[in-house]
Amino acid sequence: MIRLKDLPPLFLGHRLTEITYFVTSRCNLKCQHCFIIKRLNTESDELSAEEIARIGEYIGPLQRVFIGGGEPFMRKDIAEVLCAISEKWDPGVMCIPTNGTLPDKVIGALNTIGGRHGRRYRLHLSMNTYGQEYADFVGENHDYSAWLSNAKRISNAAHGYDNVTLVALLTVGSCENQDAEGLLRVAAEELRVDDISLGLVREHDDYRPVPDVVEFRRLVKQHMRGKRGEHALLEVYRNLIRDYQADYYDAPHYQVPCQAEKLRVVIAPEGSVYPCEKLGYPEAEGLDRWSLGNVRDYDYNLPAILMSERAKEIQLAIRNSRCHCQQCIDLGLNLMASHRFKARLLAKWISRSARNILDSVQSGCDDI
Ligand SMILES: C[S@@+](CC[C@H](N)C(=O)[O-])C[C@H]1O[C@@H](n2cnc3c(N)ncnc32)[C@H](O)[C@@H]1O
Ligand code: SF4
Ligand code: SF4
Repeated sequence: MIRLKDLPPLFLGHRLTEITYFVTSRCNLKCQHCFIIKRLNTESDELSAEEIARIGEYIGPLQRVFIGGGEPFMRKDIAEVLCAISEKWDPGVMCIPTNGTLPDKVIGALNTIGGRHGRRYRLHLSMNTYGQEYADFVGENHDYSAWLSNAKRISNAAHGYDNVTLVALLTVGSCENQDAEGLLRVAAEELRVDDISLGLVREHDDYRPVPDVVEFRRLVKQHMRGKRGEHALLEVYRNLIRDYQADYYDAPHYQVPCQAEKLRVVIAPEGSVYPCEKLGYPEAEGLDRWSLGNVRDYDYNLPAILMSERAKEIQLAIRNSRCHCQQCIDLGLNLMASHRFKARLLAKWISRSARNILDSVQSGCDDI
């Protein structure tokens, strides 16, 4: 659940509260849908763990840090990088994705961060296809049965730590004839995941998927129900965000002001800062156009970059253009910053809680 200290930016909009840091562009796969495809395996002078820690002198607390890639576990020093962020950036939760092909690196990192820092980690295991189609989808000489046994090892290690939540991350519509139900069965029965997260595939460059939004809505309704120990408000929030996301696919339009650059930024592996993934790293064609500056040129003082004239101009342009897009991560934060959405969220939560109370009274009467 969100920490009290993370609430003020959602009401006042006065400081950064989320960062996506793409720790590397290197990857050992080449998935068909990958939005970072044109940056994959490009040379970059990645920030070291020490440099990452220095950014922490100027920021925090942050409600959430997303680790991006490439495959984060391709970095030799990934355990040190995750430790630096966990210890110095004060994140409420860290979301760490993996394609699951490098179990030794994942387990090594879990053994370093798991349980140690009093932090919450969500390890996102990406699952988009299985069986025969896996090798075609990831585009390299990887085999599904090897992936499954690697994923089981990762699952066993993750379950050894109370503060690590293992999440199956399924991008709905990422491949043709995707068997989402089959994948979710593997996730639940073979990998014993603690949670699932469903996203909708999004377009980039020349890639124009047409996901089945009706099926996405059905999957969310059926599978993203409350988990044991999860606060009901969080469940209502997660489902509501996905409703908005699906609505956006049906009829793309401006809903709320985007908080890119204000509440959230994206950092590229070598330290350049951008408003978001579309207007910057990795998706924009011309990165220079959207670069706000590099932390190395500002002595790692990220807020100083955001206060520069250039950053202010870009933020104003985003606001004035009433920019909107398919990005669910930004949409969640944008909506949370909107007072109307917070009121709607509370109303839904209250009505759901009231329904639950009525249901239990009803079943109590039935038992008499
Ligand atoms: C870019 S990957 C980086 C981390 C890691 N390599 C992995 O695959 O988990 C992070 C997540 O983005 C998802 N993803 C990639 N391309 C996407 C797209 N076009 N739309 C939505 N999600 C996408 C992947 O399936 C993965 O779950
Ligand atoms: S594993 Fe992740 S980063 Fe690598 S190609 Fe697939 S989606 Fe992209
Ligand atoms: S609406 Fe989307 S593309 Fe526009 S600034 Fe926000 S996140 Fe970026």
